[in-house]
Amino acid sequence: MTKVAIWCREKTENLIGVGKEIPWNVPSDSRFFADVIAEQNVVFGRKTFETIPKQVLEKCEVWVLSSLQQEDEQMPKNEHWLSDIRHFKEFEEDLYIGGGAQVYDAFVNGAPKLMPDIIVDCVYSSEINSKLEGEKITITPCVETMRKKYFKITDDFEKDGVSAALWVKKGDFVEQSVLKRLLLLLENR
Ligand SMILES: NC(=O)c1ccc[n+]([C@@H]2O[C@H](COP(=O)([O-])OP(=O)(O)OC[C@H]3O[C@@H](n4cnc5c(N)ncnc54)[C@H](OP(=O)(O)O)[C@@H]3O)[C@@H](O)[C@H]2O)c1
Repeated sequence: MTKVAIWCREKTENLIGVGKEIPWNVPSDSRFFADVIAEQNVVFGRKTFETIPKQVLEKCEVWVLSSLQQEDEQMPKNEHWLSDIRHFKEFEEDLYIGGGAQVYDAFVNGAPKLMPDIIVDCVYSSEINSKLEGEKITITPCVETMRKKYFKITDDFEKDGVSAALWVKKGDFVEQSVLKRLLLLLENR
């Protein structure tokens, strides 16, 4: 029932990607992302899904948003493709929103019932890989909504140039067990 968005954005431009890639490499942050989504329902846009190593998703229920439908007998049983985001309005289990920008925006700035209850806001403030070519992908509208409609409920947890904090939607009850799980993961990052 609890929706959690998790991203790592670059500090000055809210950049999350260049073309298909994330323009930095912080192994502890990638591990943290994998730990947060482990054994959970996680939703990605098709473009991000194509970039995530399969072993990271082995123990997740993976939901892929796309207008292209995949009906393939070879497809892993834990992979579900769907074209209509409204499926998640009444989703009865916890859901982790793993990006990219189109998907964060559809949840954070979409219908109220889609809005994440919690945002795990990781902020990278070091050098960007400038050799990557492709469109710069940013999430400024999501960050603006976060600042307006969410409370920051933790201090910043710093590790390897990434500062992470939890934000909770104003005015809503938040499931304490989910918060506790995220806090533990943050502390042990
Ligand atoms: N730094 C981070 O934390 C982080 C996290 C995740 C991703 N990223 C980066 O973000 C970039 C990708 O982001 P992106 O915005 O370009 O793509 P994306 O959100 O990953 O995927 C976009 C695709 O998802 C599908 N889609 C999105 N919204 C939909 C909706 N409401 N209903 C149905 N289908 C929907 C469409 O697929 P079809 O075209 O198949 O219809 C669309 O083309 C990459 O650079 C990736 O590395 C960074």
